[in-house]
Amino acid sequence: MTLKKLPTLRIGDLEAKIPIVQGGMGVGISLSGLTSAVANLGGIGVIATAGIGQFEPDWDTNSEEADKRALQKEIRKAKAKTDGIIGVNIMVALSDFGSLVKCAVDEGVNMLFLGAGLPIRLPRTLPLDRLAELPTKFIPIVSSARAAEIIFKVWAKRYRHIPDAVVVEGPLAGGHLGFKREQLDDPDYALEKILPEVILALKPYEEKFNKNIPVIAAGGIYTGADIHRFMRLGAQAVQMGTRFVATYECDASQKFKEIYLNCKKEDIVIIDSPVGLPGRAIRNEFLERVSSGVKETFKCPWKCLKSCDFKNVPYCIGRALTKDLLLQGQTLIGWIKSSQLKSSLRP
Ligand SMILES: Cc1cc2nc3c(=O)[nH]c(=O)nc-3n(C[C@H](O)[C@H](O)[C@H](O)COP(=O)(O)O)c2cc1C
Repeated sequence: MTLKKLPTLRIGDLEAKIPIVQGGMGVGISLSGLTSAVANLGGIGVIATAGIGQFEPDWDTNSEEADKRALQKEIRKAKAKTDGIIGVNIMVALSDFGSLVKCAVDEGVNMLFLGAGLPIRLPRTLPLDRLAELPTKFIPIVSSARAAEIIFKVWAKRYRHIPDAVVVEGPLAGGHLGFKREQLDDPDYALEKILPEVILALKPYEEKFNKNIPVIAAGGIYTGADIHRFMRLGAQAVQMGTRFVATYECDASQKFKEIYLNCKKEDIVIIDSPVGLPGRAIRNEFLERVSSGVKETFKCPWKCLKSCDFKNVPYCIGRALTKDLLLQGQTLIGWIKSSQLKSSLRP
């Protein structure tokens, strides 16, 4: 396939002029500012919900409500700034997954991106027998054809409906990675390998439900040439995260953006996050301290991640990424993809 012109991205009755999804970036990185800017330019802007309530005054005592309130505010702020397509990213691993999904659907967002776990159980507060009638599109984020198959099989049986598109995130993505450490450099798990596998796995469902299911490639996509390469492999769009961090419109603090801009290739490390997944991080004093075995003392106001072993983890990932340190300009961890550094440092 040759691509002379960037195609549009159609998901059901919605059409984005530019086939670029801005990846949801939690802990205050992608909120209404970045989301609306991307949507105004014809892409799909995405508000991330991880840690969204941490900026509310009562997050420590009333976390679930604080998350919901903050999400509602950000959606309304984004909608006031754009008529473009906006989505919300919700991690399945979050303890308040159900209440955030309900809130985003009630607020009428165009799309939900559901990752960090398999979204096979939707909240019962949604009209589960009429999912197709909802204006909100459901888009799981997967890292393998097997994960996509499980989700589609369960949805087809349980909801008689299938998701509207799929994001395939490869091992070079910023943020938590849905791979084992040893798989990160294994060519069998490269995005170029898993993308066509996912596309193939979805074919029978596209036929059975007579529905086009666009597959969106993510992880390490940075330039126009990268976009072209993955679209030639069959992706109907791309999702990009890191590329948007150092933009003016990004909601992160100036300090956070500067850390990205000043980062050198050798500053990148793979860490074992307390979430139980590997992740790419920018080396700093804090990471050196915890990786040498020091356990940070912290109070867990509520178990924000369903699976967190909060009594035994060496530190709280939520706090490490936000409130306590980020707001003081001592960002602990900036997720970034190492091979992007060279190009991000180019003038
Ligand atoms: C700072 C940062 C925070 C992220 N937070 C989330 C998140 O909360 N939920 C999620 O599903 N993905 C998250 N991601 C992943 C992005 O949505 C996107 O899929 C990924 O960054 C794509 O790879 P790229 O950074 O190489 O473009 C995050 C990525 C970054 C860089």
